[in-house]
Amino acid sequence: MTRRTVQTELAFGADSLRNIGIETPERDARRLMAAALGIPPDRLALHLRDEIDDDAFYRYLGFLEERWTREPVARIVGGRLFWGRWFHISEAVLDPRPETETLIELALSEPFSELLDLGTGSGCIAISLLAERGEAIGIATDLSESALEIARWNAREHGVEQRVAFETSDWFAGVGGRYDLIVSNPPYIAAEEMDCLAPEVRDHDPHLALTDGADGLTAYRAIAAGAPAYLTPGGRLLVEIGYRQGPAVAQLFKAAGLEDVAVHPDLDGRDRVVSARRGQTGVS
Ligand SMILES: C[S@@+](CC[C@H](N)C(=O)[O-])C[C@H]1O[C@@H](n2cnc3c(N)ncnc32)[C@H](O)[C@@H]1O
Repeated sequence: MTRRTVQTELAFGADSLRNIGIETPERDARRLMAAALGIPPDRLALHLRDEIDDDAFYRYLGFLEERWTREPVARIVGGRLFWGRWFHISEAVLDPRPETETLIELALSEPFSELLDLGTGSGCIAISLLAERGEAIGIATDLSESALEIARWNAREHGVEQRVAFETSDWFAGVGGRYDLIVSNPPYIAAEEMDCLAPEVRDHDPHLALTDGADGLTAYRAIAAGAPAYLTPGGRLLVEIGYRQGPAVAQLFKAAGLEDVAVHPDLDGRDRVVSARRGQTGVS
C-alpha cells in the first residue's frame, strides 16, 4: 500500500478542490490539513514527510467533503487568523476578511486611546486594535447579541476583555461618550448585488452582516450623521467600503462636516477604506 503522508494527502486534497473549481485549492487544502492535525498552518511545512494517522486522515477527508459543498474553510475549522491572531467564528458572524487588515494598518498608523467599533461581528477589528495598543480602551457594538457572544469569547482569548465593553446597539443609538478613533466595517453590499456573490459568502455569512437590503450606503449615512458628535476634536473615523463606494462615502463624510477625507486602497489596489477626521473646533 502507498505510504500516506501529509504531502501526498495535501496534493490529493488540492487536486480534488481544483477539479470542482475552488479558486485557492492549495491554500485551502493546507488550512484543512493543519486543522485535521491540530497544528497552526505555518507549522505544516515541518510535517510534510510525516505519515498521517487514520484519525487525522479521516478528519481531513471529512473537512474536504464539507469544502466540496462550498462551505468556507473558516466555517469548517471554526475560525481564522486575522492580523496574526486566531478568531473564533459562528453562523452569527462574518468570516473576517484579509482586506479588513487594511483598516487595521491605517488605524495603527496614529495613536489612539478610546476606540469605538460599530458592527463588531467576531470582534476582529476592536480586539486586534486593543491587543496592539495595551493602554487603549474601547466599546464594540453590534445589532446581533449572538455576534457579541462570539466577540466576548474572542476578547477573552486575546486577553483584552477588561478593556472592551460589548453593547447591543443600532449604530450609535445605544452608545455614549466621545472617542479619538471610530472604526466600522458595516454591511455594504447593495440588495441587487446579493445574487452575484460567491456561494461561500451568500450562503454562509449572515445577511445582516452583508447587506442593508437597499443601496449599500445605509450604514454610512448613519455613521456620517452620528460620527461628528461622538468624535473628540481631531478624532479619526475609518470605515471599510466596497471597492466602488469611495466617492459616495467620501461625499457623505464631507457633507457631515468631517475633514481630511481620503480614500485608501487595499493590497490589490482596490479602494477599501475611507478615513476622515473631526476638525479641532468643528461640529459639537
Ligand atoms: C460586515 S460585518 C463586519 C463584522 C466585523 N467588524 C468584521 O470586520 O469582520 C457588519 C456587522 O455589522 C452588524 N450590523 C448590521 N446592522 C447593524 C446596525 N444597524 N447596528 C449595528 N451593527 C449592525 C452585523 O451584525 C455585522 O456583525
